[in-house]
Amino acid sequence: MRNDMAKTYTVLFTPEQVEVQVEPGTTILAAAAKAGVFMNSLCGGDGVCGKCRVIIRLGEAQGGTTNHLTRKEIQQGYILACEGQVMSDLVVEVPPESQLRSAVKTEEHPAEQFSETFLMRRYTPALNPLVRKAYLEIPPPSLENNLADLERLEYALSKALGTREFQMGLKITQRLPELLRGADWKVTATSAYRGSLSEITEVETGDTSRCNLAVAVDVGTTTVMAQLIDLTTGRAMGVASRYNSQIRCGGDVIRRIIFASGEKEGLRTLQQAVVGDINSLIQELQQKFRLGCADITMVTAAGNTTMLHFLLGILPNYIRKEPYIGAVYCPPAFRAAEAGIKINARGLVYSLPCVSSFVGADITAGILAVEMHKAEELTMFVDIGTNGEVVIGNKEFMVAASASAGPAFEGTDSRDGMRASSGAINHLQIYNKDRLMSFSTIGDQEPVGICGTGYIDLLAELLKTGLIDKRGKLNTGCGSKRIRTGEEGQPEYVVIWARDSGRGKDVVITQADIANMLRAKGAIYSAAQVLLRSLGFSFRDVKRVMVAGGFGTSLSLESAVTIGLLADLPRERMQFVGNASITGAGLAAISREKYVEAREIAKAMTYFELSTDPYFMGELVSACFFPHTDIQRFPSVMGVLAKGRSKQEG
Ligand code: FES
Repeated sequence: MRNDMAKTYTVLFTPEQVEVQVEPGTTILAAAAKAGVFMNSLCGGDGVCGKCRVIIRLGEAQGGTTNHLTRKEIQQGYILACEGQVMSDLVVEVPPESQLRSAVKTEEHPAEQFSETFLMRRYTPALNPLVRKAYLEIPPPSLENNLADLERLEYALSKALGTREFQMGLKITQRLPELLRGADWKVTATSAYRGSLSEITEVETGDTSRCNLAVAVDVGTTTVMAQLIDLTTGRAMGVASRYNSQIRCGGDVIRRIIFASGEKEGLRTLQQAVVGDINSLIQELQQKFRLGCADITMVTAAGNTTMLHFLLGILPNYIRKEPYIGAVYCPPAFRAAEAGIKINARGLVYSLPCVSSFVGADITAGILAVEMHKAEELTMFVDIGTNGEVVIGNKEFMVAASASAGPAFEGTDSRDGMRASSGAINHLQIYNKDRLMSFSTIGDQEPVGICGTGYIDLLAELLKTGLIDKRGKLNTGCGSKRIRTGEEGQPEYVVIWARDSGRGKDVVITQADIANMLRAKGAIYSAAQVLLRSLGFSFRDVKRVMVAGGFGTSLSLESAVTIGLLADLPRERMQFVGNASITGAGLAAISREKYVEAREIAKAMTYFELSTDPYFMGELVSACFFPHTDIQRFPSVMGVLAKGRSKQEG
């Protein structure tokens, strides 16, 4: 009901059934953010992406004109949430394709489970956590043994942990005399790594040494993931993840930087959003494992350079202006409470180091996880996320480049794309031009959209069956019932008919979607090609390719090669390693040596600016074909395509 006194309207969001009071003229997108309803809003509310479609079920909303909605949809009540203004009490339905559930269930992240089991088991270092606890039975003072309380504690601790130099805050020092005597000199001290020193961050009565936990966090542009680690055993206990709430301020880092610089309280909003996400994940893990706040003594954080700036509350606006410099690449450990992260009041956050403004700590963490910095043979690390990063090297050298691929393979940039969550098609095969042979969805739900791995399979299958040509053009003359002209006048391919979909509408891939992905895969392939050429190598010299990314379930390497995203190398040289960033953050938590190694990796890595390379544009243009203008570079794909053609003809 209209509240005339306060001049607000009530907006009810369905199917979540969440209600919120807003001022007249508030956009529905802003109302949703206030209500905690997560919604696709890739362009951050600029009216450009068309992802924030909602249906007005009751009431009146004022919206502008847009090309993103058909006349029929407008008649059905569709409106863009970022353009629709609340002009009365409203009931707003958020359709499945616009929904972003705040939590991405762990079972929807087999890639992360893979990285947890495979990488951590394979590379688990000797246990020497950044934060250690030691139970001490300290000899009480006497006339003969008259060391002061602090020196007495330090002496006992250095004997237990082998550390010599300590520092301790004034607050703990002030309560130390009573604490030691009250505990009958039986205490547990917590010692945190601070470079050449160790900080005594906590002294507790009795033995709490078995309760020492860390949370490793990967702050992705799209998803924030947290892994709980028992520092007494080095074992990962559980994983939780959710969408990065900053999404409502823009789908990519550039839009968020603009939001942070241009909006009142913009930086604060973004910092609070990511800290809120981290706290929600920590709380979820705490509840699951029945832990208290104080049990978690530290956090390690990885993420791209911009995300880490936001986490630290630093405006990253110089990252997007020439010469593209960040405020900090290798932040010192800081008190979690200072950033608002809710763990032990004296707990610390250790950020992994970034290499440059465009090669972040997620890449350093990934390299640490796959041990590329120790490799004898020439190795390539490819991270496909909201952007694409490529690192080439071995124990002698490492060179990294960032490809402006955009979030195409995260499924957010295309008409019926979605993030890797329930109902997303993640794998498929096409039998012939009219029949879909098989597909699978995340969570075995009815299909509502397509995620990154689904798109990679789909493009490969369309190519193999001749439904697209090497330029990515849909074959409108092939007689397929699935290829038609869409409402926007451009060709599209129907992946799932409305009757079989979970959204009551056809799930399609449009010509524009294909062009977008062609550019993205071309950017990643050409980045690798240019890096190799600049170093005097070719793809043939690469003995190991590690593909990382949390963009979907296990990637089909075969499909990735078929479309020319990855080079046509012997498949046994290639490995999909899932979210290597969180694995690296976890390794740093359980090993001081690994944390130091990560800093050395960042220092050793050279950033290569692709745009200054004279060959880059040419390589990029050549790579914007399926699989490439030069098909000879993809001998195995030549065979696959020939077989596909003869099958169709037969
Ligand atoms: S069009 Fe509304 S958020 Fe992009």
